[in-house]
Amino acid sequence: MYDVATFTLNPSLDHWSEAEEVVPVRKVRTVEERFDPGGGGINVARVVRELGGRPLAVYATGGFAGDAFAALVEQHHFDHRAVRISGDTRISHTVYDRANRQEYRFVPEGPRLTEQEREAFLAEIEGCEATYAVLSGSLPAHSGPDLAAEVVRRMRKTGARCVADLSGEALRAALDVGVHLVKPNLRELEALVGRDLPTRDDRRGACRDIVDSGGADTVALTLGAEGAMLATADGVLELTNPAVEVRSAVGAGDSFVAAMVVALARGRPTDEAFSYGVAAGAAAAMTPATELCRRADVEELFERIVRKGPPGRRR
Ligand SMILES: Nc1ncnc2c1ncn2[C@@H]1O[C@H](COP(=O)(O)OP(=O)(O)OP(=O)(O)O)[C@@H](O)[C@H]1O
Ligand SMILES: [Mg+2]
Repeated sequence: MYDVATFTLNPSLDHWSEAEEVVPVRKVRTVEERFDPGGGGINVARVVRELGGRPLAVYATGGFAGDAFAALVEQHHFDHRAVRISGDTRISHTVYDRANRQEYRFVPEGPRLTEQEREAFLAEIEGCEATYAVLSGSLPAHSGPDLAAEVVRRMRKTGARCVADLSGEALRAALDVGVHLVKPNLRELEALVGRDLPTRDDRRGACRDIVDSGGADTVALTLGAEGAMLATADGVLELTNPAVEVRSAVGAGDSFVAAMVVALARGRPTDEAFSYGVAAGAAAAMTPATELCRRADVEELFERIVRKGPPGRRR
């Protein structure tokens, strides 16, 4: 039995490098190159393992980049199952411009899946035994909302508690089926409800609506540097981030999800799991580049949040 099974239909071989300055036409010389296996579910599995949980990652891969991807996943020492596809796994590029302290991120849409490949992926889900099942990251190009809905249905069939970290029509489809926990950021929540949510009351209302309509038992809205908001049938809770020196917020959302789910899988109460998520998100912001979060940072920040004591709930 795994603590957390993650499902990644469109993983990415993440390539990172740095340049003195990114300019057109001239060759931009790069240094500090590194490759990481990425995509929402893969990042979540990496952090679950970092925090001492037992993850299983299921992903679709193909082509030479898919082989390299699988070799990189192997280095992270967690169980994983690859569903082979005919298309080439995507390669994402981030170039950090040192002069302007800006990241340029190039993210391909990735391969489409054939009907048989979808079926193979869905069949793989059914054999996964885990306390929590997480669907995270973008879905394959042109797959439409039906695939997301079907993935969530199969996840539910395994008996696991389902978690969705998705955007656009995939997010809507997952909520239509119903999940235990959903983690939108503000942009994703605004797109879902079809309007801007400038005030805390607007955001509280939108989160509560998801709970009241049965889309999710728990909504964790992450607000980047502003912190996060938790909504359940018991009410709404808000947390600001512990003060940290921010290096790169890449992977903060995935770290948040992984930590919250690890704590829930350990039987911790929802409020506490939420605080652990905020600690991991802030810890991810402390690490440079594509590095996710470190366990020692997460524990230290979590202690700080607990000592401060979370604010009370509001309806
Ligand atoms: N600049 C920051 N400083 C401190 N904490 C941060 C910062 N950015 C993010 N976090 C923490 O991480 C959590 C998740 O971050 P965020 O809301 O940016 O997720 P996201 O938009 O899903 O990110 P991702 O790009 O990884 O998908 C936040 O709720 C917050 O607790
Ligand atoms: Mg996110």
